[in-house]
Amino acid sequence: MNISIIGTGYVGLVTGACLASQGNNILCCDLDNDKIGNLKKGILPIYEPGLPELVSRLTNTGNLGFTCEMSDAVRHSTVLFITVNTPTLENNICDLGNVLDVIREIADHMTSYRVIVHKSTVPVGTGRKVRSIMEALLKEQGKDLEFDIVSNPEFLREGSAINDFLNPERIVIGSGSEKAAAFMMEIYKKQRRKGIPLLLTGLETAEMIKYASNAFLAMKISYINEIANICEFCGADAVEVAIGMGLDHRIGCEFLAAGPGFGGSCFPKDLRALSGLGKTYGYDAGLIDSVIETNQRQKKRMVQKISAAVGPLEKSTITFLGISFKPDTDDIRESPSIAIIRDLLDKNARIKIYDPRALDNLKKQFPEMPVTYCDSAYTACEGSDCIVLATEWNEFSRLDFKSLKNIVKRPVFLDLRNVYSPEEVKAYGFHYEGVGRK
Ligand code: UDX
Repeated sequence: MNISIIGTGYVGLVTGACLASQGNNILCCDLDNDKIGNLKKGILPIYEPGLPELVSRLTNTGNLGFTCEMSDAVRHSTVLFITVNTPTLENNICDLGNVLDVIREIADHMTSYRVIVHKSTVPVGTGRKVRSIMEALLKEQGKDLEFDIVSNPEFLREGSAINDFLNPERIVIGSGSEKAAAFMMEIYKKQRRKGIPLLLTGLETAEMIKYASNAFLAMKISYINEIANICEFCGADAVEVAIGMGLDHRIGCEFLAAGPGFGGSCFPKDLRALSGLGKTYGYDAGLIDSVIETNQRQKKRMVQKISAAVGPLEKSTITFLGISFKPDTDDIRESPSIAIIRDLLDKNARIKIYDPRALDNLKKQFPEMPVTYCDSAYTACEGSDCIVLATEWNEFSRLDFKSLKNIVKRPVFLDLRNVYSPEEVKAYGFHYEGVGRK
C-alpha cells in the first residue's frame, strides 16, 4: 500500500520505516526543509537503535521517500498518518496547533476519499473535534468529499521502538467507520497474522486507552518509588519487594524498578494532559495529580540523598553517570538527572557528567549549564566526592571499582537505578546507597 506519514519526528520516522519494511510505499512529509534534506542523505534527527540502518536500506529499495510538499503526501496515499508533536502548554492543555495546521493542508489538497490517522498522542475528544473542523473546511471549499478519522495510538518505547512497532502487545484502532477500519486492518495485516490482537473500538475509547495505559505505567513507577522510600526506613529491600510483588500475575514485574523518578516526552506530558482533561470537565483527577507530585518529590529526595552522603555540597564534586531519561536513547526530555543537577548547581556543587549518547543534546539544550562534560565514566569520576549512577546504560553495569577507588576523592557511590548489589560495591571500600536498599 501507499501510505503517507506527516511529521518525521520519533513516532513518524519509526512508523514510516517499519511500514516500509513491511513492503508498503511510504512517503514521509515534514515542513522542516533541513530535516527532510538530512533524511534524504540518511542523517536522522533522533537516535533510535536500528533506525539508521532501516531508513537507509528502505530508502535504497525505494520503499521510503521524503518530501516537504504536503500536496505530494496527500496525493500519494488514501491513508495519512499524523505524527506531529503535540506539546502540553503551561495550563496542562495539549497544544493541537501542529495537528490543525496539517488538517488544513489536507483539506486544501485532497481531491478524493482520505483516512486521517492520529498516531501521535492527542487528548480524548480530538478525533471528533478534527472531524468537525475537516467538515467545515471542505464545506468552505465547496468540496463534497468523504473522509474518516481514525485514532491509532502508538505504544512505542524509546530505545525499543522498532520492535515495539513490529511486535506490539496490541493494536488499537478507534473509528466509527468500517471502511476506514478495513484500510487499517490491511495496513496491520502482518502483525495480525502473527496473532497480535487488534482492538476495534470508538474514537474516544482508543484515545483514552493510550492515556490510561501511560498513566497506569507511570503510577506503577511512583508507587514503587514510594514503597522504596518506606523500605529505606524499615530495612526492606525494594528490589526484592518488587520481585515478590511481580510474582502475582495481576501485578506483573514490569515497571516496578525504583529510581530517581520517571522522565521522557510521554509520561510527564500525558499525565499533565489527562489531569488537564479532567479539569476541563470540572473533575479533580487526584490520583493522577499525586502520581505527578510523587515523581517531583522523588527527584528532590535524590538531592537530599546526595547531600546527606556528601555533606556540604559547596565545592563538592559530584559525578553523574547518565543524563538521558533512560538508557539506549539520546533523549533528555524531563530527565530526572537534569532536575537533580540543577538543584545541586544551585547549592554550588561542581558537576562532572558522562553519558554515552546524550551529552550533545545537553550542550544544545542547556548551553548555559555550568557542568564539566567528560568523554568517559572514568574521566568523570576523577576527583569525585560522590559518583551518582543516574541512568542504567549497560556500560555502567560493569564499572571497575578497584580502579575507581584510586581516582575518586571520596569513595561514595549512589546507585539511583539499583544496578549493583550493596555488598559488591561496599567490598571495594565504597559507601553505597541505592533507592530502597539496605
Ligand atoms: C513510555 C511507554 O512505556 C510507552 O508505552 C509509550 O508509548 C511512551 O511512553 P518511554 O517514555 O519511551 O515509553 O519510556 P519507558 O521505558 O516507559 O520509561 C519511562 C520512564 O520511566 C523512564 O524515565 C524510565 O527510567 C522510568 N522507569 C521505567 C522507571 O523509573 N522504573 C521502571 O520500572 C520503568
